[in-house]
Amino acid sequence: MSKRVASVLVAGAMVAVLAACGSGGGGSAGQGSGHKLVVGFSQVGAESGWRTANTKSIQEAAKKAGVELKFSDAQQKQENQIKAIRSFIQQKVDVIAFSPVVESGWDTVLKEAKDAHIPVILTDRAVDSKDESLYVSFLGSDFVEEGKKAGDWLVKEYAAASGDVNVVQLEGTTGSAPANDRKAGFADAVKGEPKFKVVASQTGDFTRAKGKEVMQAFLKSQSKIDVLYAHNDDMALGAIQAIEEAGKKPGTDIKIVSVDGVKDAFTAMSQGKINFDVECNPLLGDQLMDLAKKVKAGEQVPRRIKTEEGTFTPEQATAALPNRQY
Ligand code: AHR
Repeated sequence: MSKRVASVLVAGAMVAVLAACGSGGGGSAGQGSGHKLVVGFSQVGAESGWRTANTKSIQEAAKKAGVELKFSDAQQKQENQIKAIRSFIQQKVDVIAFSPVVESGWDTVLKEAKDAHIPVILTDRAVDSKDESLYVSFLGSDFVEEGKKAGDWLVKEYAAASGDVNVVQLEGTTGSAPANDRKAGFADAVKGEPKFKVVASQTGDFTRAKGKEVMQAFLKSQSKIDVLYAHNDDMALGAIQAIEEAGKKPGTDIKIVSVDGVKDAFTAMSQGKINFDVECNPLLGDQLMDLAKKVKAGEQVPRRIKTEEGTFTPEQATAALPNRQY
């Protein structure tokens, strides 16, 4: 090897080492000036179109903001999220963010993060912890409000109906904030109208496959189903397949109200298969990076940041479809 080639290789190796130090690798996170912000993010999984869009938004926003993102997919298991958070603590990341798969059971690990002086931001979903000092902020939707919007639509849609309206409900992941809150919000909206009967309600775990399977069971066990309320679009899309395979017309024989507002659901709406969709915005990445930077800089941030969201009729969804990002 010539002297010149050798010196170029040595210089290259030094640049690589310096770059690794600068990116907070090797446990140096949180130290020194000019250091890149390191955020550990524990994602629920990849159970739905909404979740895929949320992951993409967070990963792209981190790149854009120059944040080093340590991303971990929990595959819808709380124990995996707890492991990931512990590993972030060990790696001394600057900020931990996570979307908790279920609401309860977080106090111990959040206390560990607090003791290590690592601030925690909740994104998308909340925890039911009584100790509010365990996290600095919660960025995400108002799921109770979403359920209420679905129920309000139902009340209007059936304003003229006098007989019973039989509703089946596909619930999200058991114990998760969106499943608990969307159920509660919906129940609250229809409670003054005894004609609405929730004749069956079961979890479809926010997935298309489970939504289809549970809807098949509902179709077998219930002699009359007027309405399906699905806690997310993926379960509604799975249920549509089950309804069609049973020889019925989704959107006509069984009306469908769902939550999320993903592209595939808008396509189904444009075909008359879903009657109303309540939006839940997954594009939280930019706001999260902004929040993480402020938290690290010691700035005061709001305890609760709610996402702005709308609702869609089939006409509105059809018009929005060409520009829908997710
Ligand atoms: O927490 C948000 C919910 O989780 C979305 O409605 C659903 O699609 C996702 O899996």
